[in-house]
Amino acid sequence: MNQDIAQILVSEEEINEIVTRMAKEISRDYEGKNLLLLGILKGSVVFMGELMKRVTIPVQIDFMKVSSYGSGTKSTGNIDIILDIRRKDIDKCDILIVEDIIDSGKTLSYLAKYLQRKGAKSVKTCTMLDKPSRREVDFKSDYVGREIPDLFVVGYGLDYDENYRALPYVGVLKEEIYNK
Ligand code: IMP
Ligand code: MG
Repeated sequence: MNQDIAQILVSEEEINEIVTRMAKEISRDYEGKNLLLLGILKGSVVFMGELMKRVTIPVQIDFMKVSSYGSGTKSTGNIDIILDIRRKDIDKCDILIVEDIIDSGKTLSYLAKYLQRKGAKSVKTCTMLDKPSRREVDFKSDYVGREIPDLFVVGYGLDYDENYRALPYVGVLKEEIYNK
């Protein structure tokens, strides 16, 4: 285990079960639709890669990049679109936003409304992790991998100051790392 990790919260085996289950649900629900998995960079990349492999219906992918966090463990709450989606056929797309984790809920509630306004045929959301106790806006994701307590976690795409994204599990970062 990485020396900066206090505890593994979601193991590789559990992640594998979660992603397999979610891909099955999505494949069933989007049968006959125009599924576009829209990953939010950079945190969703690992989840996105594993999810799309397991989806058994035709699927397209795209990415957007937003920033709400400066550096560190606290959200600033302001959402900036750094990389937008550019498709002429957005009115034909059933968009499923793919996110690593929901905290305050501000990023996903903003993006879902934004894509609806842009004219998407439908917009739903899918997140690997959810911290419901941290919610600041009324928001519920359509697909949730697993709920977790209010802990700052890294790995499986999630970072602290751009580090730890490549860890194959989700771990709790030692407090001494971000209180340095
Ligand atoms: P929200 O807009 O507050 O829901 O923020 C969601 C974003 O915050 C996620 O896409 C992550 O980038 C980041 N985030 C929230 N909690 C954590 C965490 O525990 N570790 C790493 N990033 C986090
Ligand atoms: Mg993120």
